[in-house]
Amino acid sequence: MANPGHAPRQVHAVYPGSFDPPTNGHLDVIARAAAIFPLVTVAVVANPQKRDPLFTLDERENIVRACVAGHPNVRVEHFRGLLADFVRDKQADVIIKGLRVVSDFESEMSFAHMNRSLSGVDTMFLMSDSSYSFVSSSLIKEVFLQGGDIRDFVPISVLELMREKSKRRT
Ligand code: PNS
Repeated sequence: MANPGHAPRQVHAVYPGSFDPPTNGHLDVIARAAAIFPLVTVAVVANPQKRDPLFTLDERENIVRACVAGHPNVRVEHFRGLLADFVRDKQADVIIKGLRVVSDFESEMSFAHMNRSLSGVDTMFLMSDSSYSFVSSSLIKEVFLQGGDIRDFVPISVLELMREKSKRRT
């Protein structure tokens, strides 16, 4: 328990991810979290597990920051290393993870147990809107890089940055 025997205080939620790029599914989860928790920190991981990131850490952090500008209680930071260390340093109360489909839960459950064991911080799951149940950053990138239409899945500002980035890469 983060605050046993004390008066309730402002709950600080951390929503971690790679955000390469942020999708409408991510932004939907952030909006839901921002409506529930007084303070939400979107934590952009410095070293994503997935190979060949499209955007640098700075770019991902700035893109997410621009996307959440309409939420005064959402801030954006980055972290290196373990999420458990970041949430402990920030004295966060809860980790937020988005669930799209039931199979997400299988891996997320072990991450939640590990993060709680390392930091004492619990994980809460928010379901993104069902219309985003098949939307992931890696799928969006793959479809985009093969010339597919991803306008329904990322904000237009993100799509423009993806177009610029892929022009510079070719
Ligand atoms: O958007 P993603 O790539 O699905 O986010 C994955 C993320 C950043 C949440 C996960 O890779 C993570 O927590 N990375 C930090 C390293 C860590 O703490 N690993 C142990 C997880 S129990």
